[in-house]
Amino acid sequence: MSLHNKNILLCITGSISCYKSIDLYRRLKKAGAKVKIIVSDAATKFISPYIFESFGEEVFEDDAFKSPLSHIDLSKFADIILIAPATYNTINKLAAGIADTLITLTVAASPDKPKLLVPAMNPNMYANKILKDNLNKLAKHNFYVVSPETGNAACGDFGEGKFPEIDDIIFGVESVFKKKTLNGRKVLVTAGATREYFDPVRFMSNGSSGKMGISIANAALKAGAEVKLIALNIDDRIQYINRRIKIISRTDFNGLKESLFDEFKKSDILFMAAAVSDYGFKEKSPVKIKKSGNTGAGGTLKVELMQNEDLLKAVSKIKKDGQIVFGFAAETGSAIENGRKKLSEKSLDYIFVNDVSKDIIGGDENEGFLITKAGEVNRFEREKKESLAEKLIEEISFPA
Ligand code: CTP
Repeated sequence: MSLHNKNILLCITGSISCYKSIDLYRRLKKAGAKVKIIVSDAATKFISPYIFESFGEEVFEDDAFKSPLSHIDLSKFADIILIAPATYNTINKLAAGIADTLITLTVAASPDKPKLLVPAMNPNMYANKILKDNLNKLAKHNFYVVSPETGNAACGDFGEGKFPEIDDIIFGVESVFKKKTLNGRKVLVTAGATREYFDPVRFMSNGSSGKMGISIANAALKAGAEVKLIALNIDDRIQYINRRIKIISRTDFNGLKESLFDEFKKSDILFMAAAVSDYGFKEKSPVKIKKSGNTGAGGTLKVELMQNEDLLKAVSKIKKDGQIVFGFAAETGSAIENGRKKLSEKSLDYIFVNDVSKDIIGGDENEGFLITKAGEVNRFEREKKESLAEKLIEEISFPA
């Protein structure tokens, strides 16, 4: 994740979750951002501004009268005003246009700057209609929200109101800066590797981790889409997946086929990043196959493989006007030539071809060629799968 050279004004208001903003600050810095901090009076009851000063940061106390023009300077500095945690009191004051502290004054002086709220409070307070109405009102005035999580609040009450994971906040900040090229679009992504079982415990698969597909799903969400991810045997610890992505977990070719055909009808774009097994076992034993009938080490077991249907080709056949199908190709040579062939045989709108002999399967980076239906070829140099996915998403254009 990158926020390279972005100026972030981090405003910390007085919730018990304030201490988490220390971690948030460190992650913003790690992502390359420049940060200035305002700590509200109430927040200083929970954390000391000295923590940030000891990291060498300029920290402003929430005193509107200490330095008369600091709200103007801070507004000019900010590419984004991040209020995390944002209390019930602060959110409602902002919606009422009150400007009686350095934080609220700076927001008042920044109507054109994006403001990202991270509400954190007791679940009953978060469910309060006054707050909900005010959040809706603020949404019309350049305010964005990272919703709180559901769980046990500090007081023990259960519900929505917990300070979210730092990853979700960083994702929210990055999203604010992204062009909403897929606003309102429904995106379906497949990722990971199918498993073909030949008895209840043994299977054939491949080394695809699902990272490219997850990166595409995250990037599509940042571009404003509603995203579903058909996840094939993905270990969800390998990479961050935003919690607004609906995950449909499937295991084998048949499961993938069922969900793919069901979901494709409801989607505007399909990104078929899954590594689908080209072969399945002709027969699957309902019980674990024993080795006892064999002659010992060196004995053989014969199994017959049967070719699976090409799902991408099949799904392209039911494609309606306006739907986009984006395929991926794994090649070990003649990338462009083979990519073109697959694009045409599978009636695709786009195909991204990579040379998998270059440590790409399971790795964090990717490189390759994007080929379009119109025949254009675009080379993408090696880079992190996350940033490459964002570039690929920007390339998508819908037929007029
Ligand atoms: N694909 C599919 N169904 C299959 C095999 C592949 O839908 N049975 C999809 C993949 O998800 C990918 C694209 O087709 O988007 C290309 O997959 P790839 O493995 O590169 O090529 P294949 O078509 O399987 O051809 P080959 O293995 O012969 O290169």
